[in-house]
Amino acid sequence: MSDIQTERAGAILRVTVNRPAKKNAMTSAMYVDLAKAFKDAAADDGIHVVLWDAAGDSFSAGNDIEDFLKNPPGQGESPQALLMKALLGLDKPVVAAVQGAAVGGGTTLLTLCDVVIAGESAKFKTPFVDLGLVPEFGSSWSLPARLGHLRAAELILLGATVDARRAEAIGLVSRVVPDASLAASAMEAALALAQKAAGAVQTCKRLLTRSAREATEQAFRSEVEEFSKRVRSDEVRAIFNAFLSKHAPASKPKERQI
Ligand code: COA
Repeated sequence: MSDIQTERAGAILRVTVNRPAKKNAMTSAMYVDLAKAFKDAAADDGIHVVLWDAAGDSFSAGNDIEDFLKNPPGQGESPQALLMKALLGLDKPVVAAVQGAAVGGGTTLLTLCDVVIAGESAKFKTPFVDLGLVPEFGSSWSLPARLGHLRAAELILLGATVDARRAEAIGLVSRVVPDASLAASAMEAALALAQKAAGAVQTCKRLLTRSAREATEQAFRSEVEEFSKRVRSDEVRAIFNAFLSKHAPASKPKERQI
């Protein structure tokens, strides 16, 4: 079964990241499947809204570090570039529902969404500097554009963890709800959008995002140039290998035998 699942509910396409055992860390295949889901939504006149959520206790731990070592993204038509193109090209509104960890792409991709509902458990972090990397998905433009430079620097340069309440205060999320009502609140927002005149909603989104799209695309291209060099560097490989060896089965505490 794919780690990206889609389900139609009337004019809403629900896209669920479904790899909870790995905190929904994203592999290359998942980026490709996610891109396809957004592209299909764009092409389908019966779909007016995309609802993006994730299974388990986390929204996403960002790039899958093991997959990153095996398939480091490069320039051109990478899986990440496909996703970026599909999301940036989508005139239909995207509602995201976020719980638990939202790391790396789990945070940066939210800057391409239109309504972001966070559960109280949500924690946002973009540890690019700590990983020896640079921002991705155009977030070097979209984060300061949404939050202002100082708040974006708190995330990107300091790699600070931002909890749900602060995320709401700084404009990273639309609103915070108890985790128990996250799914219902996100669906409510999606339904409210789906009931409006679809042509007007899409035209308004196009107008709202016109300059942001160009700037985000340009930022993405500049980021990829740097990212594709850094992700192949010895410095970054050492950091990734340290993460993997910490999570290797042999280094995990053994379960107590009864
Ligand atoms: N890539 C690959 N695997 C990941 C992952 C990632 N980015 N994040 C988590 N996982 C895996 C862990 O290896 C572990 O797998 P295992 O059970 O087979 O050992 C499983 O997901 C659970 O992770 P764990 O760290 O035990 O859960 P936690 O609740 O203690 O912490 C996170 C959750 C998300 C805070 C933590 O896993 C983390 O910091 N992950 C790395 C995030 C990151 O740096 N992403 C890259 C951004 S570019």
